[in-house]
Amino acid sequence: MTKQERLANLRARMEADMKLPLRLGATQLVFGDGNPDTQVYFLGEAPGYYEDKQGNPFVGLAGKLLDKLLEEIGLERPKVYISNVVRFRPPGNRDPEPDEIAAFRPYVDEEIEIIDPKIIVTLGRFSMGKFLPDVKISQVHGKAFKISFQGKPVLVLPMYHPAAALRAGAILEQLREDFKLIRKALDRADFTEVMQVSDNKVEEGLKTDQLSLI
Ligand code: URA
Repeated sequence: MTKQERLANLRARMEADMKLPLRLGATQLVFGDGNPDTQVYFLGEAPGYYEDKQGNPFVGLAGKLLDKLLEEIGLERPKVYISNVVRFRPPGNRDPEPDEIAAFRPYVDEEIEIIDPKIIVTLGRFSMGKFLPDVKISQVHGKAFKISFQGKPVLVLPMYHPAAALRAGAILEQLREDFKLIRKALDRADFTEVMQVSDNKVEEGLKTDQLSLI
């Protein structure tokens, strides 16, 4: 099966899974979107109003900002894959609950397995928590973490959520700066060769300016 076929199969199983939470209050499932052959997988939080209406992730104001930030580093949206930890819109855009995130987790994990990215950019604290539990986003944003996920090396880059950047200019400036790390990581095609860490264990966090040490 091709990646597209595997993703279509995954989507169909999610559509049919009546045990998934938040379905009743939502218009539709918001599946991941983008280039399945990308090296860069973005993971956000949950669909908002416009995503719920249109059925695609990051199409509202936060999505427009994400598009702009991607363009600024020469990585236009069609080149990446974008998804969320929760796939139905929580009522009134409230934060997703831990049990809701847990219910979607096997599907998110399978999606990551299919895409097989080298770099995972987490947007906001909920997706960050999937890979880097017990850290504060204010302390780790814009750093690179070499981890092993599903037995494979991957570089996790935690970033602020674009919606937070829309609310505060200082966060926007930080996010714009942190995005440059994605470009740096991509330009170092050989970085996977030095990632040998045990499963689900965070080996080390590197500051932006330390990335060349990888
Ligand atoms: N915020 C998210 O986290 N995801 C979306 O898809 C839209 C806004």
